[in-house]
Parts: sequence; C-alpha cells; structure tokens
Amino acid sequence: MSDLYAVMGNPINHSKSPQIHSTFAEQTEQDLIYSAILVPLEKFKEEADSFFRNGRGLNVTVPFKEDAWQYADTYSSRALRAGAVNTLIKKEDGSVHADNTDGIGMVRDITVNNGCEIKGKRVLVLGAGGAVRGILEPVLEEKPREVVIANRTVSKAQALAEDFSDIGEISGCGFEQVEGQFDLIINGTSASLSGELPPVPESVIHLETTCYDMMYSAEPTVFNQWAAGLNAAATLDGLGMLVEQAAESFEKWRGVRPESKPVINSIRESLLLVKTA
Ligand code: ATR
Repeated sequence: MSDLYAVMGNPINHSKSPQIHSTFAEQTEQDLIYSAILVPLEKFKEEADSFFRNGRGLNVTVPFKEDAWQYADTYSSRALRAGAVNTLIKKEDGSVHADNTDGIGMVRDITVNNGCEIKGKRVLVLGAGGAVRGILEPVLEEKPREVVIANRTVSKAQALAEDFSDIGEISGCGFEQVEGQFDLIINGTSASLSGELPPVPESVIHLETTCYDMMYSAEPTVFNQWAAGLNAAATLDGLGMLVEQAAESFEKWRGVRPESKPVINSIRESLLLVKTA
C-alpha cells in the first residue's frame, strides 16, 4: 500500500500542496498518496488521530497551526523558535514530531534559487507577526550583517528582535524610523492582502537591493511593484517559498530531496494562464 500524507486546513480547496507533493513523488519515484483534507473547526485532534492510524505525515495550514502545535509530542528547534508548526511527522515509536519548514524554505528560495547571498548583508524585515517569527532563525543563521524589523506596532518589532537577539545583530523599530539602505528587504506584513504598502522611506532601496514579498500572486504584488518602480535589482515573491517549504517537508518525510525549480515554473505558468483566461 502507498504511504499516506495530507494537508489539513479549512478552507483547503485552493491548496497547491497536493499538486506539489504528487509531482515531487513522481520525480523521486516515491510510492505515496498526498491528499487535501477539509477539517471542520474544533475537529483537528479527531481528524489527526484518525489520519495517523495509517498516515505518515501531515502539513497543517490555517486555522490549525495552533492545534498542530498542541498535538505534537516533540519539536524541532526551528519550530520552537517559530512558535508554530507546518509539518507533522509520525515516528517509529508512534510519537508525532513537529517541524516548521517555512523559514528555511524562504531562505533556500532566496539563496539557492535566486542566487542572492544573505551573509554579510543588511536586511530589513517588514512586519512582526507569526509569518515573520517563522523566518527569523533561518535568516539569522545565514549570518547577515544586521537585521532590522520594522512594524506598524513598534513594541511588537522590538519584542520580536529581543527574542532573537542571541542569534545575531537584530533590532526593531517603526516604519518611519527605518534608516539607511538595505541589501535585502523582506515583506512579511499581511498588508499586501489588502493591496496596502507598509510606509517605509523610498531611500531604503538602492540599485543592488533584492526585495522579497512572502505573498505571491499572478500579478506582481503591490510591494514588488513599488520596489520595481524604485529600480530594485530584483523583486521576488513567495511562490518559491511555498514550493521550497514543501520540498523541505518532503525531504524530512522521505529522506530524498525533490527538485523544486520545475514545480515553481509550472505553478507560475498556471497562475499566468488563469490570469489571461
Ligand atoms: P501573519 O501570520 O500573516 O504574520 P499576523 O500575525 O496577524 O499574521 O501579523 C500580521 C502582520 O502584518 C503584523 O506585523 C501587522 O502589523 P501590526 O503588528 O501592527 O498589527 C502587519 N500588518 C497588517 N496589516 C497591515 C497594514 N495595513 N499596514 C502595515 N502592516 C500591516
């Protein structure tokens, strides 16, 4: 029988994870079935118990990340730092191990797929919510010169910086207080969802700046349009992060690394086709 994997969420019908993991399985000749499970609110534990009777691994998305946290028996250090999990792994002894592959997925997309080194760079991170907490450890492990977190609610940026200050040079401030130029700017606010732009000074961008929006869409995001208009060297979006976090989960489950580039390219093409249809 094929090994069983799934993503649980609510809603779940737009999830690209089944498509991504099925392609990875074909590529690496792994005998597995990956499905999307719509879980009623309040029913995560029951559904996860039922799944793990035979299932080997789960991805968990909105709104069950907190439930998944509670469900796990053990945690990777990056999951502990992120305070959130997106991947559950059933161990031989029956226990469930939790990991968070979002941050490492983004870092791989930036450094490997797009050839942009973080080491030694000045990095600006916009936003101080859960999404940003999830990426800070992997970003700091690349040894940037400095990370500045800017957020609408300044106290949240400062508290977050404090939580990660043992790993590297990191500080928090408000958008208007951001000073100087940055080599890498990561937008982790949910402002893009409503088409809004965090009000950072235009002077943060120079001709070598790489901008990364953790959101993605068929059209360039508002943040990336803004950055491109200021002649940033590159404007990247979170599609690569989505596929890389999946690749990382897949490797944890199966012990083989799939190739993410063809999957990123085919999803990008399908987004553009939908746009022009
Ligand atoms: P997520 O899980 O996506 O990180 P979150 O934890 O609710 O969601 O965090 C959302 C982030 O986007 C926060 O940093 C939030 O700023 P506040 O901490 O001040 O609330 C930021 N955000 C949301 N809407 C925004 C907007 N219109 N302009 C600027 N920042 C915004």
